[in-house]
Amino acid sequence: MNEQQIALVKDTVPVLRESGVALTSHFYQRMLTHNPELKNIFNQVHQQKGRQQRALANAVLAYAEHIDDPSALNAVVERIAHKHTSLGIRPEQYAIVGKHLLASIKEVLGEAASQELIDAWAIAYQQLADLFIQVESQLYQTAINDHQGWTGWRPFKIAKKVQESDEITSFYLTPCDQGTLPHYHPGQYISVRVFIPDTDLYQPRQYSLSIASNNEYLRISVKKQPALDKYPEGVVSNLLHEEYTEGSIIDVSTPYGDFFWDSDSTHPTVLLSGGVGITPMMAIADAINAANDTQKVYFIHSARSSNVHAFKTFTDNLPSPQFSVSYFYDNKTIADSDVQQGPLTLEDVLPSDYHNADFYVCGPEGFMQNYLPKLRQLGIDESRIHAEAFGSGGVE
Ligand SMILES: Cc1cc2nc3c(=O)[nH]c(=O)nc-3n(C[C@H](O)[C@H](O)[C@H](O)COP(=O)(O)OP(=O)(O)OC[C@H]3O[C@@H](n4cnc5c(N)ncnc54)[C@H](O)[C@@H]3O)c2cc1C
Ligand code: HEM
Repeated sequence: MNEQQIALVKDTVPVLRESGVALTSHFYQRMLTHNPELKNIFNQVHQQKGRQQRALANAVLAYAEHIDDPSALNAVVERIAHKHTSLGIRPEQYAIVGKHLLASIKEVLGEAASQELIDAWAIAYQQLADLFIQVESQLYQTAINDHQGWTGWRPFKIAKKVQESDEITSFYLTPCDQGTLPHYHPGQYISVRVFIPDTDLYQPRQYSLSIASNNEYLRISVKKQPALDKYPEGVVSNLLHEEYTEGSIIDVSTPYGDFFWDSDSTHPTVLLSGGVGITPMMAIADAINAANDTQKVYFIHSARSSNVHAFKTFTDNLPSPQFSVSYFYDNKTIADSDVQQGPLTLEDVLPSDYHNADFYVCGPEGFMQNYLPKLRQLGIDESRIHAEAFGSGGVE
């Protein structure tokens, strides 16, 4: 891009800050009207909630702000690219997005969008699209060449369903083609795709693998999302719990995700989870346990009550003193003798050498909003904090 084009893109920063969500809402409506087949890969509930619109608006704004040095966004690009590859996004789809994004800039900005501005954004978009396409191509190749992965969807059979708590059920998945299973890093997720009869659409969702990589099965553990306030119960999780039985088939992606345990690290590891955020921690704890090294692990889990506390038998049996396990319940009863009264207070459970530890954090939005700033306040270096948010667009 030349100096003038960079300046033109930067000039749109105030307007993106002000009207970015209006722009991306217009964009999605336009694109999904012209290309309705894409409704099968976009989470329709995220669309209704405006999550995806906010996530894209934030990404476009961040890109415009860093247009003279997009490498500042490498970590964000990497994270989005993992989500894209788990959904099987292809290079040719960038042209569709580009066409509707540029048309939306014109339509939303109206007369304020000069031809020079549109031309500058066309070049800026292509530069970003090329970056994503390159990173995603690398991820696809690594998955296939190094991890026994595949591209797109592969049918898996639900070999076994196991109830882990009142709300969480595990699904043990084996490939219908009886081929080999992928190798993955503990903490990574898969996308699954199910057909929704009510809307006549396929819908994807991501689920963390809740056991370390093995040669027998993939395991995901899904919370049945209840209706919230005026909103209906979760579409895919309820379908999986109620309609998908042992023997049913679901489509599964290769594992992806940039949130995973660093097996080369010798630092103490703190696994901090709330509710269903325990799932990636299960895979990490399982992997560390199997690795047979001496690294100290603090497994800290917070749940509403014993009824919804999953995997307790497994974590109770993690070998001590290597593993130090603490539980917190919001509603603790006398029977919960090995549990502390929530909310969890980090200072009470962290090791004295916590500045030297690696932190892995996963939980509901409120949990993340509470504990991530606390870790920063405690002076933990950003590079040591690894977080996974179960929504779209990171922690809001
Ligand atoms: C990387 C990653 C890993 C994940 N791992 C796991 C895991 O291991 N286990 C797990 O259970 N989940 C996991 N998730 C979450 C999972 O992908 C789904 O988001 C979750 O199962 C809910 O999907 P659903 O279709 O049941 O609910 P949805 O239908 O998507 O609804 C979600 C919530 O939104 C509410 N809602 C519906 N419509 C609206 C509206 N218009 N406005 C506001 N709210 C509305 C619903 O009541 C519901 O509570 C993960 C997510 C990510 C991104
Ligand atoms: C330069 C172009 C693009 C940018 C900046 C972009 C940005 C984003 C962002 C910020 C997210 C949210 C990530 C998260 O959940 O953490 C996302 C998710 C997603 N993107 Fe893209 N994207 C681009 C291109 C594409 C293309 C070409 C497609 C395919 C048509 C696509 C399909 C999706 C889908 C399906 C999701 C998940 C949506 C959801 O679950 O709500 N994206 N993208």
